[in-house]
Amino acid sequence: MSKTDNIKGYENKTINWYPGHMAKAKRMMQESIKLIDVVVEILDARIPASSKNPDIDELAKGKYRVLLLNKSDMADESKTAAWKKYYENKGFFVSIVNSKTGAGVKATTEVIQKACQEKIERDRKKGILQRPLRAMIAGIPNSGKSTFINSFAGKACTKTGNKPGVTIGKQWIRINKNVELLDTPGILWPKFEDQKTGLHIAFIGSINDDILYPEDMALELIKILVKDYPAVLKERYDIDVSSGTDLIDTSDGGESENSNDEAVKILESIGQKRGCLKKGAEIDLEKASKLLIDDFRSLKLGRITLEVPPED
Ligand code: G4P
Repeated sequence: MSKTDNIKGYENKTINWYPGHMAKAKRMMQESIKLIDVVVEILDARIPASSKNPDIDELAKGKYRVLLLNKSDMADESKTAAWKKYYENKGFFVSIVNSKTGAGVKATTEVIQKACQEKIERDRKKGILQRPLRAMIAGIPNSGKSTFINSFAGKACTKTGNKPGVTIGKQWIRINKNVELLDTPGILWPKFEDQKTGLHIAFIGSINDDILYPEDMALELIKILVKDYPAVLKERYDIDVSSGTDLIDTSDGGESENSNDEAVKILESIGQKRGCLKKGAEIDLEKASKLLIDDFRSLKLGRITLEVPPED
């Protein structure tokens, strides 16, 4: 019997869901996009690929684009720098921010202005000098959008009321004389490309944990830790993987049954060391999984980025 046979729900589902309120929010964004100069998308720096909504690319076609790598305090600094470069090479204007402390937040005005330079020049030639740039803020739930807006707008924040063509109730937030923001509800997209994307989004708390099996998440996290952060397993759980990168064969992205089995062994070991036991001393894998996920979310594993930029 394979180790993963014990794991409830393992690899048996793709996460496929799309709450109705998100479809409505997307329609609202489509209606408003014509009023917008620049789309500012907030990403979670721990998952810069999975937190980027492909629907926004479609929606924002022809608009200037800014990406904010938020929660940078929780992510691996060198990987955040690599992701910044990666997205800049793709033509985005990118800024690294920590909305909780405000680090990098105020500089967003400059980044927005840089992204819209062409338009500013065009306006200037027409004699339009003081028209604020209009930015739409987008981001998946829990990416830190509200925290960012509060920090960016600060006390100076004034709601400027509805604009023509915008559904009643939508508010513009005047940041300063140069920028106005249109907030949008956090949205996901109807179908995740693969199970990994769904799991990674779950790690950062964007989808309700109840719709996932914690074991699936824990095994994915363990594979990433073995590959990119083996010292963390040693430090936190006294599990030595430094001697064998072959403990989990990651050459196939950790997809083989063998690598799943090895990840389950590590999960069992975490459960054992942390006293996650059922009656009869059987290891409680669900409890061990939740413990590992909590440790990740509360930074007890240190600053970890779950994704590396593709090499193209
Ligand atoms: P949303 O509007 O996109 O849904 O996200 P929101 O601002 O509500 O932020 C979600 C959580 O992420 C909040 O934590 C918030 O404090 C935290 N957060 C946002 N930006 C950052 C950041 O740059 N760094 C860190 N470390 N955390 C950030 P919470 O646990 O839900 O609430 P609380 O602990 O702030 O009370």
